[in-house]
Amino acid sequence: MKSFISALVCPKCQKRYDHREIRHLCECGSPLLVEYDLAGAGKQVNPLAIKSRPASLWRYAELLPVLDTSNIVTLGEGWTPLHTLDRLGAQYGFGTLYLKDEGIIPTGTFKARGAAVGISKAKELGVRHVAMPTNGNAGAAWSVYAARAGIAAHILMPEDAPLITRNEIVAAGAEVHLVKGLISDCGKILARSIPAHLWYDASTLKEPYRIEGKKTMGYEIVEQLGWKVPDVIAYPAGGGVGLIGIYKALKEMRELGWIGEKLPRLVAVQAAGCAPIVEAFQKKAAESQFFPNSQTVAFGINVPKALGDSLVLESLYETGGCAIAVEDTEILEAVLELARTEGCFICPEGAAVFAALKKLRAGDWLKAHESAVLLNTGAGIKYPGALSFDLPYCPIDGSV
Ligand SMILES: Cc1ncc(COP(=O)(O)O)c(C=O)c1O
Ligand SMILES: [Zn+2]
Repeated sequence: MKSFISALVCPKCQKRYDHREIRHLCECGSPLLVEYDLAGAGKQVNPLAIKSRPASLWRYAELLPVLDTSNIVTLGEGWTPLHTLDRLGAQYGFGTLYLKDEGIIPTGTFKARGAAVGISKAKELGVRHVAMPTNGNAGAAWSVYAARAGIAAHILMPEDAPLITRNEIVAAGAEVHLVKGLISDCGKILARSIPAHLWYDASTLKEPYRIEGKKTMGYEIVEQLGWKVPDVIAYPAGGGVGLIGIYKALKEMRELGWIGEKLPRLVAVQAAGCAPIVEAFQKKAAESQFFPNSQTVAFGINVPKALGDSLVLESLYETGGCAIAVEDTEILEAVLELARTEGCFICPEGAAVFAALKKLRAGDWLKAHESAVLLNTGAGIKYPGALSFDLPYCPIDGSV
């Protein structure tokens, strides 16, 4: 299985770069996207050939950037289940409601996809040190994949990022610095530090390859639906990389002729306490503004200004999608509702998507006959602090 990567291309100014060299942003400051020779790939591979391949994201190898398969660093990521939520679907009058469950992937969040492909490509490019700011989950994923690749990782994270992810990062042997601030502050410190160390900057969208890992969620959803697209895919957007990736995957599949012209309407879900994309969408703006004093229980989507905001907004406008915010109270209610009604104990970010889909269905933006995919980005058990319950004690000599 050979990769059909052909170049790195700037979506803003169309400048092209050689993919065999390390490259971060375009000279114009925009993130770069990976381009493939799709005509060539289409002659080499098709949905039928993919069907019999191993259950991992590497089944789409022709459409991934790693040239030499010996550089693949894997812990068994991808091909996560697509459940139907029949009870909740019936209760709220959804046509068909699906949950794509990234909670069972290595490290417990979808960040493993970006890390697997990003670290594999970094290894191929001869990188020895990666560095990144993180809200926790990405840092955890990149640290374990870096450890597996024998690459050193340097991580900056907000001091109140989830403890469990902090421990994962330290356990995996990465160098960690805590910051009294947000992920945006971590990013600024890192940008000042990198030149002195010559580290590989793996910040969101500053390296082009994690998007390629995340886009495989789009390929999988479509393959799991029998190479058909759902009406709606809703995603918890922080940096929005997953959404940009899914949109990219859909366009690639359309060009390959694996799906028809019509794409699903993409939905960016944010927390009301950090909703820059929603504000921009409401103004029909091409870019977002920094969202001050942001705060939410869904820590992974606390990103006050995303580097790829224009790409996220483009994916919404171009597919007829939307952006919607939900309150933290609604998020926590949704966590319990999903766990109790469907047995799916998912992360607050994923639960935010369910809260949003309920609103979209109630407002008839999502019609009764339509199918919607709720993208759950992680496991509920990674957030032990998000819920707390007062439980009655039973006396030791008592009975219940
Ligand atoms: C669980 C979870 N969901 C969603 C996100 C947002 O990811 P993206 O940058 O793709 O918007 C994050 C990012 O940290 C996360 O950890
Ligand atoms: Zn450019």
